[in-house]
Amino acid sequence: MLRKLLIGTMLTSGLAAGYAAPSLAAEVEVLHWWTSGGEAAALDVLKKNLESQGVTWKDMPVAGGGGEQAMTALRARVTAGDPPTAVQLLGFDIIDWAKQGVAGDLNSIAEKEGWDKVVPTALQNFSKYDGKWIAAPVNVHSTNWVWISKKALDAAGGKAPENWDELIVVLDKMKANGITPLAHGGQAWQDATIFDAVVLSLGTDFYKSAMIDLDPTALGGDKMVEAFDRMAKLRTYVDDNFSGRDWNLASSMVIEGKAGMQMMGDWAKGEFLKAGQKPGVDFVCIRFPGTQGAVTFNSDQFMMFKVGDDKTQAQLLMASDIESPEFQSAFNVVKGSVPARTDVPDTAFDDCGKKGMKDLAEANTSGKLFGSMAHGHAAPAAVKNALYDVVTRHFNGELDSKAAAAALAEAVAAAKG
Ligand code: GAL
Repeated sequence: MLRKLLIGTMLTSGLAAGYAAPSLAAEVEVLHWWTSGGEAAALDVLKKNLESQGVTWKDMPVAGGGGEQAMTALRARVTAGDPPTAVQLLGFDIIDWAKQGVAGDLNSIAEKEGWDKVVPTALQNFSKYDGKWIAAPVNVHSTNWVWISKKALDAAGGKAPENWDELIVVLDKMKANGITPLAHGGQAWQDATIFDAVVLSLGTDFYKSAMIDLDPTALGGDKMVEAFDRMAKLRTYVDDNFSGRDWNLASSMVIEGKAGMQMMGDWAKGEFLKAGQKPGVDFVCIRFPGTQGAVTFNSDQFMMFKVGDDKTQAQLLMASDIESPEFQSAFNVVKGSVPARTDVPDTAFDDCGKKGMKDLAEANTSGKLFGSMAHGHAAPAAVKNALYDVVTRHFNGELDSKAAAAALAEAVAAAKG
């Protein structure tokens, strides 16, 4: 009874009139890849929010950081003509699905709640298709971060590195101190996540030319050879068992003090928090040395698929929940990301979160905010996957830096078609 009342109130107060009130059986089936400790804790905020309004959460988790496996599962469901109600998606993947004509429609709620005014254009570019809102952005993550064990940093001189040379000095000291300097998981998307930051560390113009404009000269030129040289250098600080390791296990190595640092998007912070660690006390967050002032972002969005009319209400309710400023704060504090709206106060966020919000706003103003290649916001999946392949082959020693730059230019050109 209470649940019914809540849904009724929500619908009359929050949603456009004219829809039939959902039955008590209102349900959302949600496909996502948030299965690590920190990710699951964040997802729980959304789950509980919806459940408190009488919406049943049917979970469809597909493990695998970065979402590659989840995308395979999604393709199978859409091909079978039975898409989930809502799907966690990144950047260009949203647009690719919209082009297939399978997107739902969130315009009624987006207009009513004025999303156009509060969601940054950089995100709207991926939330809308053909002028229609089809996805609700949950957060903004960014990939050019480094997560350092405070204890390991103190033992290595205590000063956080600000440029490439200082980074190498710290990594060498950590090695000399007998720990694994760099915690890393050898999976293509993780190699590519570091690559985002390494390319950005060689200049924002370079990142833009290579990763956003896909300029063949930048992709195959001397600077790219240097980027690959940096990747090869970083490879020397990784332990022997890195192949295939999940990203959250790499985070655990830093949390447990077995490794010095991890170069990873700010979802890593969710793992540190889940383990009871505090920024500035147990771990330190810095921008990848040489990338201060610039941000490579990715935004998780829940895209709504065309499902039966009986599920539309639940989709609108879920989207409305996600975009509420209260939810944006509560969720992102746990997830490690920052809000997808510009009007959410930073009061509840820790120092890394506050820095993340400030960096994002500044990068946006100064033209130094770029989509992450590794996480689907710089180019469509075909190009991203072509890059993954070259970066990983190089990281595993199959290509030298010169050959890798040449292969990258070639592979991207072929993938662009
Ligand atoms: C990213 C996603 C993050 C985080 C990460 C690791 O692509 O945007 O939310 O989940 O993968 O799984």
